[in-house]
Amino acid sequence: MNIFVSGGTGFIGSEIVHRLLREPNPARITVGTRVPERHKEGDSRISWTRVDVRDSASLERATQGQEVVIHCVQFPNAPVENTRRGWTYVQVDGEGTLRMVEAAKKSGVRRFVYLSGAGAGRGRSEPCFRAKQMAEDAILKSGMEYVIFRPSWIYGPGDRSMNRFARMARFLPFLPVIGDGSTRVQPVFVRDVAEAVARSVTSAKATNQLFELGGPEELTMDEIMKTVLRVLGKRRFLLHHPTGLMKLAAQFLKFLPGPPLTPGAVDFLTMENPVDSTAAVEALDLKLSNLEAGLGNYMGRAKLTT
Ligand SMILES: NC(=O)c1ccc[n+]([C@@H]2O[C@H](COP(=O)([O-])OP(=O)(O)OC[C@H]3O[C@@H](n4cnc5c(N)ncnc54)[C@H](OP(=O)(O)O)[C@@H]3O)[C@@H](O)[C@H]2O)c1
Repeated sequence: MNIFVSGGTGFIGSEIVHRLLREPNPARITVGTRVPERHKEGDSRISWTRVDVRDSASLERATQGQEVVIHCVQFPNAPVENTRRGWTYVQVDGEGTLRMVEAAKKSGVRRFVYLSGAGAGRGRSEPCFRAKQMAEDAILKSGMEYVIFRPSWIYGPGDRSMNRFARMARFLPFLPVIGDGSTRVQPVFVRDVAEAVARSVTSAKATNQLFELGGPEELTMDEIMKTVLRVLGKRRFLLHHPTGLMKLAAQFLKFLPGPPLTPGAVDFLTMENPVDSTAAVEALDLKLSNLEAGLGNYMGRAKLTT
């Protein structure tokens, strides 16, 4: 089988690629990236091809001869949008996925697997949800077989969120939390997401399904931070920053060339999007790790010293 993974160099995409390579008879994997030369020293079992979701011709070339497309592209530094560089939800995740779907359809791709997000499909107007809606609608109308995942917050080696807190816990006497710490999230381990995606490629039960996917626990941000500290063996206090104040600061920060925070990003980081993973667990026979076990896989006292 030929599988094309767009975004296969990213946090989730690379985990999916590695999981696919562990199949007893691995598929031929082609990874789409804007900069293939950066990866040419990588695994020889993977082909790298230059694509940009803003360029339909590159997507059409890349999907020729592919049977399955796994699409997990996101703009750099998400959720902080940069309109000057075109790094926005609507341009990359929305319009970019539309082009990817068109190209896949033209190339005769049989199955399209898409990483959407928790909270999509509820008619919300924030750019991240509008983009996911555009993408999902295009996939549903495409006529290809599809599997759409709507995952909650994904953590694991190489993520830019949970690991940022872990890094801060090493050198700060406190851990910062936006808001009062009561926002509820269902963090899901990236290897569980990769397992689900890999199984969905050939699963008959997954055909034309839309799966929500979260970890087995619903935790507050405070509980998540305390779990990180417990796994790291660190004692730190949690410093809450009022959401209103952070949005005000973000109003000014958004004018910086590479803004560290924007008001939209503050909204994104403080919204609750409950998910129900029952259908995914049943169809794909998943065993989802709780946060402590997931973090313990790659983060911990022993690993801190390396
Ligand atoms: N992280 C989470 O917690 C989470 C939760 C729910 C859903 N998701 C969804 O999962 C997907 C992947 O997220 P991620 O966290 O893995 O993102 P990521 O680590 O930022 O990776 C993004 C990928 O997109 C590629 N890319 C960026 N701009 C591109 C462009 N213009 N054309 C083609 N490729 C481009 C990058 O490849 P190159 O730089 O090599 O070109 C990279 O492989 C996204 O759709 C996201 O919404 C993520």
